[in-house]
Amino acid sequence: MVLLEALNWRYATKKMNGQVVPQDKLDYILEAARLAPSSSGLQPFRIFVISNKELQERMIPISENQSQIADASHLLVFAAWDGYSLERIEEVFNQTMAERGLPADTMDGYKQRLWSKYEPLGQE
Ligand SMILES: Cc1cc2nc3c(=O)[nH]c(=O)nc-3n(C[C@H](O)[C@H](O)[C@H](O)COP(=O)(O)O)c2cc1C
Repeated sequence: MVLLEALNWRYATKKMNGQVVPQDKLDYILEAARLAPSSSGLQPFRIFVISNKELQERMIPISENQSQIADASHLLVFAAWDGYSLERIEEVFNQTMAERGLPADTMDGYKQRLWSKYEPLGQE
């Protein structure tokens, strides 16, 4: 019910009011993104928080000339991984196993299956 109420309330902002989004709200949004589910829990993206007007202005032409790109106090850019490497998969799984207090090799078989499923990415 709370979720449906929130979805009824929310809307896509097209014009900014000039106010800076407070840090605690920004942190809340980033935490929601961090907790969002993704395939195999890999979270295959990085989020860049951009609050640099000059940089935001430069991004307008590559954002279909939408002024809100520069009007927003913070621009969140979701940068998808350009590929899957064993290193990237291991980084996420090692962290997950550590959080869950499980041996690092618990998911080795699954990691290998994931790794073989995707186009290998060269050494970074
Ligand atoms: C994947 C996705 C891409 C979107 N891209 C833009 C965009 O580039 N510019 C914009 O002003 N709104 C964008 N929107 C917002 C939609 O226009 C908006 O959600 C839709 O018109 C419905 O309005 P509402 O979210 O206020 O209910 C995007 C929404 C989604 C889900």
